Amino acid sequence: MSEFIKLENVTFDYSAEEQNGQHHEAIKNLSLSIEKGSFVAIIGHNGSGKSTLAKLFNGILVPTNGRVTVDGMDTSNEDLIFDVRRRVGMVFQNPDNQIVATTVEEDVAFAPENLGVEPSEIRHRVDQALESVKMSEYKEHSPSQLSGGQKQRVAIAGIIAMQPECIIFDESTAMLDPQGRKEVLETILKLKERGMTVILITHYMNEAVNADRVVVMNGGSIEMDGNPREVFSQVEKLREIELDVPQVTDLAYRLRRDGFELPEGLLFEEETIGALMKLFERGK
Ligand SMILES: Nc1ncnc2c1ncn2[C@@H]1O[C@H](COP(=O)(O)OP(=O)(O)O)[C@@H](O)[C@H]1O
Ligand SMILES: [Mg+2]
Repeated sequence: MSEFIKLENVTFDYSAEEQNGQHHEAIKNLSLSIEKGSFVAIIGHNGSGKSTLAKLFNGILVPTNGRVTVDGMDTSNEDLIFDVRRRVGMVFQNPDNQIVATTVEEDVAFAPENLGVEPSEIRHRVDQALESVKMSEYKEHSPSQLSGGQKQRVAIAGIIAMQPECIIFDESTAMLDPQGRKEVLETILKLKERGMTVILITHYMNEAVNADRVVVMNGGSIEMDGNPREVFSQVEKLREIELDVPQVTDLAYRLRRDGFELPEGLLFEEETIGALMKLFERGK
């Protein structure tokens, strides 16, 4: 796999332009590479710098110090910013703020229209994008009549129609009900299967466990970085920085603490049930 997004010693200070001396670095001397085609979850408590990081990834923000490159393009180069934003799409938290048109298909067509894509090609891309989020049958509907999960899938279709190489989801499931969250997560997993680079910022640990890699942010720096099992097996360290672990990981952690022989870092319900069954059978 090759490097797609690269941060080298990046610092970002929201107050850097103001001369009031009040300095607060939202991102502190952070270095990180995101591989092409990978699925990276970013977790961290409120204010730890996740959204700032996301905005640095696609050039909405440029570093105060250090360098961000997307496919080798420096995001601080204004001549390249259009290209950077086209390659790295972003889906935000509130689906209502992302809907711009009066029908679903017009909404999905909006971004490629702005990119100057040919009308016949737009038609094709809109159909494909709606198909991939399973919203084709709603194409003539008004977005205002959709559920939160459906609106968010339309927002994702709009990004897909730009044909980016990477999509960042910044707490895109946070405002949805469990059904909506499930629909959006399924859509995200499908994008990953198709080779898209996916960056998932989330508060839901059961979403993060699906990633290839989990990056834990704390105070503008990376606190932990590893595969989900490596990260979530460190229950105490995560608790110290006010983070949860997946429910089954917590259950297994408590049982281990009480002397039961369960493997460390269990993440999924099925494997936990399997491990518990083994334990019971041995105990008989
Ligand atoms: N527009 C802004 N102006 C000033 N400070 C900001 C702004 N956005 C975020 N911050 C500050 O930067 C830090 C990181 O915020 P953010 O990246 O939004 O964290 P997260 O997404 O993890 O909650 C916080 O201390 C926050 O208060
Ligand atoms: Mg945020």
